[in-house]
Amino acid sequence: MTPSELCSVPASPIQRFLEGLHRRFAALDQGRVATYIPELARADPSWFGIVVATVDGRVYEVGDTCQPFTIQSISKPLVYGIALEDRGAERVRRAVGVEPSGEAFNSISLEPGSGRPLNPMINAGAIATSSLVGGATPADRLARVLGALSAYAGRPLDIDEAVFESERATGHRNRAIGHLLRNYDILSDDPEAALDLYFKQCSVRIDCRDLALIGATLANGGIHPVSGERAVDAEAVGPILSVMTTCGVYDFTGEWVYRVGMPAKSGVGGGIVAVLPGQLGVGVFSPALDDRGNSVRGVQVCEALSRELGLHFLRPPRAASSTVRARYTLAEMRSKRRRGAHEARVLDAHGAGTLVFELQGDLRFATLEPVLRAVVDAGPALDFAVLDFKRVTQADAAATRLLAALVDACSVRGQQLVFTRVRRDGLLSSFAAELEPRCAGAVSFQPQLDLGLEWCERALLARHAPALERPACPGLAEHPLCFGASAEDIAALEAAGERRHDEPGTTIVRRGDPANALYLLLSGEVSVVIALAQGGQRRLSTLSAGMTFGEAALLAGGKRSADIRADTPCECHVLSVAALGRLEVERSGLMLQLLRNLLRSSNETVVRLTADVAALEA
Ligand code: DON
Repeated sequence: MTPSELCSVPASPIQRFLEGLHRRFAALDQGRVATYIPELARADPSWFGIVVATVDGRVYEVGDTCQPFTIQSISKPLVYGIALEDRGAERVRRAVGVEPSGEAFNSISLEPGSGRPLNPMINAGAIATSSLVGGATPADRLARVLGALSAYAGRPLDIDEAVFESERATGHRNRAIGHLLRNYDILSDDPEAALDLYFKQCSVRIDCRDLALIGATLANGGIHPVSGERAVDAEAVGPILSVMTTCGVYDFTGEWVYRVGMPAKSGVGGGIVAVLPGQLGVGVFSPALDDRGNSVRGVQVCEALSRELGLHFLRPPRAASSTVRARYTLAEMRSKRRRGAHEARVLDAHGAGTLVFELQGDLRFATLEPVLRAVVDAGPALDFAVLDFKRVTQADAAATRLLAALVDACSVRGQQLVFTRVRRDGLLSSFAAELEPRCAGAVSFQPQLDLGLEWCERALLARHAPALERPACPGLAEHPLCFGASAEDIAALEAAGERRHDEPGTTIVRRGDPANALYLLLSGEVSVVIALAQGGQRRLSTLSAGMTFGEAALLAGGKRSADIRADTPCECHVLSVAALGRLEVERSGLMLQLLRNLLRSSNETVVRLTADVAALEA
């Protein structure tokens, strides 16, 4: 996907959720832009962007997401990773600890005696870390840092020289820290070199999209979700996310873990990056800062995202191989209702516009997102989306809200959703409350997946072949089993058999009964059902006019293997085994024709079932 394609996705529930968040917090005018680095004071406090990037490269964004700003302290965990790669953990741990200081970012939080900075997220620890970046010359070390940060962003990054100069000119406190570290031999050389690299790394120019992709790269084990390039060793990702979790927002970290629950890092340029390991990265940019140096809107947005989308990392979804157990279209797999040739052709032609997802496991933001995306990305070609919930163990409030938003998004485009086997009480319990009243008609609940598929088929047939609805055979001659039979043969068949009419609910054939008659269904619908060991019944297929059941009477005899129940008023022409025996003798040509037609329709069924299995295996 090109960057422009990666841009926001129309009508996506997630996109609309972010737009709602942006509207909600855009009005927030608390906080002030940083001024202690004079160049930063030029920032516009109304700048505001939110981006969410998934580990497989989908980007949802709203607001000022391409507005450049400097990365500042968000560079610290990334440079910590470089130091771990270049010097190894043991060496790095000798220079900087991993304990939260509980103090401000620029506090001189050094261990008594050793002078070791408590963690790499405070300035003291970050300066020590910068001194550990590999490279023979300052230029090499800068290239090392720029190269790595560009790999995290997935594009070449550069330095905002004006900010660099401004910080270098006013960085007295950091310089003091640098000299203290030199005093404790944490820095082994003149601190200016480490300070210069530190000021440079803080002055790297990024935007909000870069921030989310940096987060998604960490969430993706160190590999950039779009470029596929590795930005940092896999082994370093754990330590990086650990110090981001315990120290990332300084003396606000306890509150942050409690209220947001994602490893994060803030910077005085107005950025906050948050990471949901294995799932996504969040980038928020808004230069107005609180007293701790964290973006005011950034903190609020991350808290709302976590609360409303259920992103707290201590509440992960229970492991499931994939939320989508099976995915296919109605052109690949249809309901168990047997279709005549015409209907089958219509459904083959239009079935691809119906997507079916058999879901499983816990539905949460991250596990549901790929499904939402697939439905939205299907675009105008989509007619229906069927979501089956039989194996769904849980759906949290965020997932339920997003499903309601999906119905809304689809209804705007005249598309419909079908939810099948929403088995558990409480599953989707708040769905109705979340659903916009005007969308109620855009979702149908069906007790069985099979009935959900049939619901879509019926709607497609009504749309594309209304004349085919409720087919009936005015006579035996129109029944496909009799195709090719002469008028005389038809008369003989008529005489040899008898008509029966059944009301809905009548069991026409019962499992275990002798297979002693062949039924040609002339009008109405019947279903083949079996009783389940755990109680209840399962529909194996539904037949309509022009179809045949009880073939065993013609072939093998024996006992019936299932019940046949009338679903609507129906009429059958019934040929007993005795009558068939007589016809075999008197009109062997006719019997051959019947068997040929039976073979053809059985073959169509076998072809259909093979395609179904292939669709499930896919
Ligand atoms: O060293 C400084 O003060 C800045 N370059 C970085 C501080 C910063 O981003 C703190 N974060 N919230």
